Amino acid sequence: MKSKSNIEWSELDFSYRPIAYNIRCSYENGEWGDLTISDSEELNISIAATCLHYGQEAFEGIKAFRGFDNLIRVFRLEDHIKRFQDSARGICMPPFPKDKFIEAIDKLISLNETFIPPYKSGATLYIRPLMIGLTSSVLVRPATEFMFVLFACPVGSYFTTKSKPCKMAILRSFDRAAPCGTGAYKVGGNYAASFLSTQLAKEQGYASVIYLDAKEKEYIDECGAANFFGIRENTYITPLSSTILPSITNKSLMKISKDLGLNLEHRPVHVSELSSFEEVGACGTGAVITPIGLIHDMDTNETFEYCPDNKMGKVSQALFERLQAIQYGEYEDIHQWNHICRL
Ligand code: PLP
Ligand code: COI
Repeated sequence: MKSKSNIEWSELDFSYRPIAYNIRCSYENGEWGDLTISDSEELNISIAATCLHYGQEAFEGIKAFRGFDNLIRVFRLEDHIKRFQDSARGICMPPFPKDKFIEAIDKLISLNETFIPPYKSGATLYIRPLMIGLTSSVLVRPATEFMFVLFACPVGSYFTTKSKPCKMAILRSFDRAAPCGTGAYKVGGNYAASFLSTQLAKEQGYASVIYLDAKEKEYIDECGAANFFGIRENTYITPLSSTILPSITNKSLMKISKDLGLNLEHRPVHVSELSSFEEVGACGTGAVITPIGLIHDMDTNETFEYCPDNKMGKVSQALFERLQAIQYGEYEDIHQWNHICRL
């Protein structure tokens, strides 16, 4: 069995590292079977499986937190389950049942409890559910057999700048997702589509790409694997777009903004607004809130700078603190976002 003995929690980045057990479930003859527990990191699948050729794959990214009271809280589990089901339907896969999903999460957490980072160690348990089409086929058509897998790994920050401001690039020569495409689903193909542009941006020192809407290239879509927000005059402003992933962190920050007395604008955000924001950030399960210190538009050669003191801005910091306080159980869970695991 894998051991956690050598993990330096505070040194963790967002790399994969194996834990003791994962959970699996197969779909055959039109129904999901029983959950099984595995200690293998491998899958034995056909070389002709639909997921390998035609990208029939969906996934989620969920976090579990060890609270101040040692309880394990999974953040907004039901919302992640719902989005996973929407992603599955979006690429012709059978939605994984909610009750089975919750049972799988409780099993995963109790079997791997020692891999859940200590309270406030800077690390959390990142939970990765995925579903793949397994049927052997070279015809372009959906599978009829599927597999659900649930694994996890302890992680630190997604962006290597940690909570320090990062730099982002705007490139109009690449799109992440097409209008009426799969951008609003969390499916593997969207991520492969972003690799080349992200690689080009990283080679030039940027943490990621800010994608504009694919149709007009006028409005901000999202920041790589995170949503975008800006703060101006006590208002939280975030893009409304059908091609971005509806981020559960962003939805939470929209609610927290209101709780903290900010105004909220959830609407298309024109790229020309970048010069008027007081703070901008990337938000997501992995990113949490990562402040953006600089955005360079590679096509117009304009540069927008934020965070003059090289720190997260005051409003972003207040949002971040409230979000984390809820996740660690330190602040009352007024929106009932936490699933408390049975160990
Ligand atoms: N956008 C993309 C493309 C993502 O991959 C993610 C990560 O899940 C997000 C946004 C943030 O979403 P969430 O807050 O639900 O993790
Ligand atoms: C997340 O934030 O959960 C993500 O999925 C981002 C990335 C690791 C794909």
